[in-house]
Amino acid sequence: MSRARFDHARRLRGSVTPPSDKSISHRAAILGAMASEPVRVRNYLHAEDTVSSLEAMRALGALVTIDADEVVIRGTGLRETGEADGPIDVGNAGTLMRLLPGWLAGQEGRSYTLDGDASIRRRPVDRIAEPLRRMGAVIDATDGRLPPFTVHGTRLTAIDYELPVASAQVKSCVLLAGLMAEGATTVVEPVPSRDHTERMLAGAGVTVHRDGARITVSGVDELTPEDLVVPGDPSSAAFMIAAAVLVPGSRITVRATGTNWTRTGFLRILQRMGGIVVGDLEDAPGDAVPGHEPLGDLEVAHGPLIGTVVEAGEVPLAIDELPLVALLGCFAEGETVVRGAQELRLKESDRIATVVDGLRALGGELEATDDGFVVTGTGGLRGGTIGSHGDHRLAMLGAVAGLASSDGVTVDGMEAAAVSYPTFTDDLARLLG
Ligand code: S3P
Repeated sequence: MSRARFDHARRLRGSVTPPSDKSISHRAAILGAMASEPVRVRNYLHAEDTVSSLEAMRALGALVTIDADEVVIRGTGLRETGEADGPIDVGNAGTLMRLLPGWLAGQEGRSYTLDGDASIRRRPVDRIAEPLRRMGAVIDATDGRLPPFTVHGTRLTAIDYELPVASAQVKSCVLLAGLMAEGATTVVEPVPSRDHTERMLAGAGVTVHRDGARITVSGVDELTPEDLVVPGDPSSAAFMIAAAVLVPGSRITVRATGTNWTRTGFLRILQRMGGIVVGDLEDAPGDAVPGHEPLGDLEVAHGPLIGTVVEAGEVPLAIDELPLVALLGCFAEGETVVRGAQELRLKESDRIATVVDGLRALGGELEATDDGFVVTGTGGLRGGTIGSHGDHRLAMLGAVAGLASSDGVTVDGMEAAAVSYPTFTDDLARLLG
């Protein structure tokens, strides 16, 4: 396990291009493998999680070539995945584990087992098993709800499915299964969540119909995705943005980052806290389903913050950045509250417990609640040691906390950052000059 030290920083200056979007890269790999014609993906994310996706597609029979500036996926077509020899290893990738079964469930007469690392084995799959069973698939999971699990493919029946919790992963899984089913499959989301799957399907020739909270796709014979360009990941950019807001004297430019409105909830929360972030963010497109992903540059500067309340409806649009909201809250004036975020307990670590305990150990005043946390701003953090628990976002949270702290922070398990942001420490070092 690698230890890394992040000392109190003088300031961050210059520009950074965040790594490519992890969510979009996973989807590009899967849709590329589902396609009948080769798909070129530029700016694919080369990180541990998304390498797992490419390996999984190879295991299913796709040919994948990786060049310096593009990944080319020669897929198997929708209904002709190969027999995998042995379990498909999803590594640490929850998105791969929850999206892929939607496609596999429609492979008539074939069975696939999915497994991953120790953290994946603690993450439930009942949320996808339930709708897939309703569509006719048979899913055998460990203890009824955990990996390793086996998907027995069949001829699927279309369903109308109301998501019990807002989850882009579950929504995407059902939509992919809907492509394999006869008739129209509808997913109803309680509140909006990231819509990359819908956009990519629309760009691949599928009619994706949105009517408020209802999203409908019908069974298709083939997918014809256009060549794709993956924007920078706003969830990775968020760490640099938070560092620039927190460290006095900072002013940075974040280049070519995704500005899809379903991913910029954190920026809206930060702006409400008084954070200086200037950029052209996408407005919600209403019921239209754009076939592309917007991107742009952001200017960020240090400034004082005030506490805020994040309610359940905002949570899915900022889900992976909520640990950073906790950190910002430590430096803000007044109280910062996050509610309706019980999903955080099911991420790469129990992010309510690991964030609250981790930041407390650095001198923060935080209380965990069942569905979020309450932070009392004290104007700063002392510093100390934080463990990543193998969670990439916790490792990077510790690093940013260190730069903004008075005494610096040691992160135990910094290697976890490679899951989504392999060049994190180098990019940070460059901004610190
Ligand atoms: C993701 C959706 C979110 C997010 C995860 C990636 C996706 O999970 O936390 O990191 O790519 O669809 P849920 O949809 O389960 O909340």
